[in-house]
Amino acid sequence: MLHLLRVALLALPLAYAQMTHTVVVGGPGVLLFDPQNITAAVGDTVLFSFRQKNHTATQSSFASPCKRLLSPDGLTATGFDSGFQPVPDNQTASFPEASFVVQDTNPIWIYCRQTGHCQSGMVFSVNAAATGNTFDAFKALAVANGTSTTAATPTAAPSVVTVTQTITLGANTWTTTYGSYPGSGNPTPAPQPVVHTVIVGGTGQLVYTPDRVVAQPRDIISFQFKSKNHTATQSTFANPCRKLEQTSTTGQIGFDSGFMPSTDTTSPLPSFNITVNDTAPIWVYCRQAGHCGQGMVFAVNSVESGPNNFSAFQALAKQLNGSSSTGNSTSSSNGAGASGKMMLKNSRAALSVAAAGVLGGIAVLFL
Ligand SMILES: *[C@@H]1O[C@H](CO)[C@@H](O)[C@H](O)[C@H]1NC(C)=O
Ligand SMILES: *[C@@H]1O[C@H](CO)[C@@H](O)[C@H](O)[C@H]1NC(C)=O
Ligand SMILES: *[C@@H]1O[C@H](CO)[C@@H](O)[C@H](O)[C@H]1NC(C)=O
Ligand SMILES: *[C@@H]1O[C@H](CO)[C@@H](O)[C@H](O)[C@H]1NC(C)=O
Ligand SMILES: *[C@@H]1O[C@H](CO)[C@@H](O)[C@H](O)[C@H]1NC(C)=O
Ligand SMILES: *[C@@H]1O[C@H](CO)[C@@H](O)[C@H](O)[C@H]1NC(C)=O
Ligand SMILES: *[C@@H]1O[C@H](CO)[C@@H](O)[C@H](O)[C@H]1NC(C)=O
Ligand SMILES: *[C@@H]1O[C@H](CO)[C@@H](O)[C@H](O)[C@H]1NC(C)=O
Ligand SMILES: *[C@@H]1O[C@H](CO)[C@@H](O)[C@H](O)[C@H]1NC(C)=O
Ligand SMILES: *[C@@H]1O[C@H](CO)[C@@H](O)[C@H](O)[C@H]1NC(C)=O
Repeated sequence: MLHLLRVALLALPLAYAQMTHTVVVGGPGVLLFDPQNITAAVGDTVLFSFRQKNHTATQSSFASPCKRLLSPDGLTATGFDSGFQPVPDNQTASFPEASFVVQDTNPIWIYCRQTGHCQSGMVFSVNAAATGNTFDAFKALAVANGTSTTAATPTAAPSVVTVTQTITLGANTWTTTYGSYPGSGNPTPAPQPVVHTVIVGGTGQLVYTPDRVVAQPRDIISFQFKSKNHTATQSTFANPCRKLEQTSTTGQIGFDSGFMPSTDTTSPLPSFNITVNDTAPIWVYCRQAGHCGQGMVFAVNSVESGPNNFSAFQALAKQLNGSSSTGNSTSSSNGAGASGKMMLKNSRAALSVAAAGVLGGIAVLFL
């Protein structure tokens, strides 16, 4: 987008053909950009000359005048930012400068990041519209920000809107419904990925702790291996104790931590991380001989209100691979495999809402 030129003092590109618009930022007792709004042609340079105090020239959006412009996914700040440019009161020359080149005719919204300055109306625009999203409207929004925050009563959590997206994972297609903040990017994960730590084994137990988590896309599941010699290996609901690739008819390859020998006193514990890419359930087991059949399984985003819930998954693992049922595991494996797939396709819409409040819940609808 915008190209930031940090202009060294002795190297001002004033000699070049395109026009340079100089904007004075601050000064003794002045919290303003001067001029406050300009019209500039593509290729023109906007040059900020920083005066007394400690200001920035930082790009925002019309709707959020006092907040850095965000990338489309809402996760990182983007756009022009001069950084803080402190100028002592007694400095009278050699003012620091920063500039960018206008890349297109879209409006560019700028504010000062210093605490309180934007809310005092210290904003600037390039090519603001003459009607609608005008500079005056932008400035009024910035000032309104200040007054509404001083009125600070805790505002109600933003109401969660529902975003529906279709996810295809191999042969299966899910319609996934996310709880999402109004105005946020498409299917909205948490603002920052959450790391869900899962202890594998420990104190002689054949368990994942917790054995089930609800996670949003981009969250990380961090398996930490605490004792014995376990794995975290991806399977399917229908075949809990077999690697995904062994039962997939569509060439899916699942993740597998491999064997992670460890003890209670190993520090740090060996870990294996996966990134959650969607809200489809993820089924996991331990490959160590006998462990899965004793119920050492784990799930992400299992739908607890439907038939493919975590306990059903665990029960199936025990049934198919438990030592007591070796005799008929092969036939029930086939049967359960088929019925597992049937369930995926035929079960009625099942809704599993986690934390429907602040961060928004995840729900998965099986078609
Ligand atoms: C108001 O200002 C705060 C920072 O002071 C910022 O976090 C918030 O996004 C701003 N709101 C708008 C609408 O600009
Ligand atoms: C300028 O302001 C920023 C943000 O408030 C602050 O971190 C920095 O220390 C200030 N610099 C000086 C020299 O005052
Ligand atoms: C500005 O004042 C500081 C002390 O407050 C002094 O160290 C510095 O030399 C002065 N600079 C000028 C350009 O007078
Ligand atoms: C530009 O700013 C001035 C005040 O400095 C204001 O009177 C004028 O309406 C603004 N122009 C636009 C297009 O917003
Ligand atoms: C861990 O278990 C695997 C499979 O049983 C085995 O091949 C490997 O040698 C074991 N590692 C240790 C350190 O016990
Ligand atoms: C579970 O049983 C199936 C079928 O006998 C077998 O292929 C699979 O390897 C077993 N899984 C484990 C972890 O023992
Ligand atoms: C897994 O994630 C945790 C937490 O972010 C981190 O401390 C650990 O180093 C990661 N492990 C690996 C193998 O990347
Ligand atoms: C998410 O996608 C990445 C990159 O394609 C892949 O390595 C990872 O295994 C995926 N996570 C899961 C749980 O399938
Ligand atoms: C969990 O799955 C089992 C087996 O399909 C089913 O009997 C049980 O009702 C399910 N639980 C819920 C809350 O639907
Ligand atoms: C097969 O396994 C199921 C589930 O454990 C059990 O109820 C049934 O009695 C077993 N059948 C035979 C013939 O062993």
